[in-house]
Order: sequence, then C-alpha cells, then structure tokens
Amino acid sequence: MTETLPDDAAGIARAAALLRAGSLVAFATETVYGLGADATNGEAVAAIFVAKGRPRFNPLICHYPDAEVAFADTVADERARSLAETFWPGPLTLVLPRRESSRISSLASAGLPSLAVRVPGHARARALLTAVGRPVAAPSANRSGRISPTRAVHVLAGLDGRIAAVLDSGPASVGLESTILDLTGEVAVLLRPGGTPVEALEAAIGPVKRREADAAITAPGMMASHYASRLPLRLDAAAPEPDEAWLGFGAAQPEASLMVNLSSSGDLTEAAANLFGALHQLDAEGTARGLTRIAVAPIPHHGLGLAINDRLARAAAPRA
Ligand code: TXA
Ligand code: MG
Repeated sequence: MTETLPDDAAGIARAAALLRAGSLVAFATETVYGLGADATNGEAVAAIFVAKGRPRFNPLICHYPDAEVAFADTVADERARSLAETFWPGPLTLVLPRRESSRISSLASAGLPSLAVRVPGHARARALLTAVGRPVAAPSANRSGRISPTRAVHVLAGLDGRIAAVLDSGPASVGLESTILDLTGEVAVLLRPGGTPVEALEAAIGPVKRREADAAITAPGMMASHYASRLPLRLDAAAPEPDEAWLGFGAAQPEASLMVNLSSSGDLTEAAANLFGALHQLDAEGTARGLTRIAVAPIPHHGLGLAINDRLARAAAPRA
C-alpha cells in the first residue's frame, strides 16, 4: 500500500523522513508529479528505475530548494547564473558539468559527466527539498512510456503499491515538464521544450539551438514514443470521425460523443495545464466506450505550443 500524505507540516515531515531513509515518495512540482529518491543514495535511485520500469541508461533530474545548492553540485557559468536568476524557481532544467565533489549517485546521472539540475517553482516541493536536506532525483511519477501525472490519483493509477508514499498537493499548475537546456558546450542547446518558452530563454542569453528532428537522441529520455496513451492519436485533425474522441483547442468545436477542450479561449498556458489530464481522461473514457482513437485539433507552434506539440507528437508516435 502506498501512503497518501497531506501537504501540511506533518505530511512533509513524514515524506522527508521516508526519502532520507531511502524510500520512494512522489510529490507535486508545478510541472508534473515527480517520483523522488535521495539522489546521493544509489540503491534508492535504482529503486526509481524498478518502480517505473525505466531503462537504466536514462539519467534523472536532481531537484534543489535553491540555486546555491544546485550550483554546489555543478559548474555554473554566467549563462547558467543569469537563467537561474530569472527563471528559478520554475519549470527550467539546466544540464551543466558535474562537479567532482558532488555526492550524487552516478546512477542518477547515468554515468554522464553532466548533471541535470532544477529548482522547482512549487512552494511545497521546495519545503520538502529543504526538509530532506539532500538533492532529490525525480523523473515524472508515471510508469515508463506512460503519460506524466498532474494529480496524485494519476500517480496512484500507475504506481500504487510500488512506492512508499505520494504527497498530495492537488493538481500541478503548469501541467507540462520543465524545459531542458544543455549548457555544457559553448552553444546552448534545447534538449526538451517545456514549461518555460524557449523564446524567453533566448531573450535572456541569446540564440538557443533547437534539436534537429532526426538528430541522434541526446537526452536518452527523448525516445519518440515516450508519452504514450493507450488509444492512438490523430493529430492536426479538422473534425472527429464517429469512432474518435475529440481533443479540442479554441472557440469553434466540432461535435463529438466524447470531447475535452484544452482551452476554449485558445490560451496556450491553460492548454498546457490541461493537456495530460485531458489525455488521461479521453484515454480512459474513450477505451471504456469502445472508441478507437483520439483526434486532436491543430495547436499553434509558438510559446508553450512548441512543448504541447512535442508531447502530442511523442504520444502519437508508433509504439516501440
Ligand atoms: O518537469 C520535470 O522536469 C519533471 C519534474 C518531476 O521535475 N521531471 C521530468 O523528469 O520530466 P524525466 O526523468 O521524466 O525527464 C528528464 C529528462 C530525460 O529525458 C533525461 O534523458 C534528461 O532529462 N536528462 C537528465 N539528465 C540529463 C543529462 N545529464 N544530459 C542530458 N539529458 C539529461
Ligand atoms: Mg517522464
């Protein structure tokens, strides 16, 4: 049985004690729920891969309560400091050279000379990280290859009985994973579009290189079919077929027997926050009603639309 903890002082203290003892605890960040383990404890980190059924080569993001502790484990140049100043706490992950003095388990960084670090925007997450007093490695709290959880019930649907506890802080506000920026080289490279628009990063540090669509996979987690729903998706659809659920965006919506509108006002921030919840819902109800697919309205490709389209393309990719 997995304990569900309230996110009050007692719940956070219990969650911190479990993490310090090497157990796995899922907790809310502003992006999605993370599955946390003490990043300095190799056995605890290994247990994340077992609980998720995740391939071992995939490195994890380490979470910190503030930039100072994050930069104690990494080498931060001026770009990193400037981005941290502007975007932390918040949905941005920086990949930086790892300091030799860092006590992070090499399993957490998959043996790489770099480390992905992030200071989450969610106040309860930072309270938990402060209480733990150690870096917390946390991938999204879903079974490998499934949709990221934005609520405690999504976490339990995939991981009940496989982890010690989930700290329930209600729905995640951003709803999309963090933007991942690689700063290990001279050119800043966008490894994953996410909750911080790349345009905002470029306004702070200048041009950021986009991954080419068919480039070799840099972040091992960027496998094409990473965010799979059970029902297949049909993207950029004008209207649903009779056997399809409809995932809409914007004011004018076609008729469908089962539908969710990501944002009737066409707001990309609202759509991002609703995306994974809507996919969970259409997937479950659509399957129960015998529908065979989810048709998805076109989503603009700017701002958070870049990340939304990225996740939809992954969810629609052929299954491995
Ligand atoms: O919003 C988020 O980032 C959430 C919350 C829980 O913080 N976490 C999350 O973690 O999305 P995960 O494990 O699902 O995705 C982390 C991604 C993976 O694609 C992984 O390959 C990449 O980060 N990554 C981690 N360390 C890396 C490194 N040193 N170099 C390149 N990519 C790295
Ligand atoms: Mg994930």
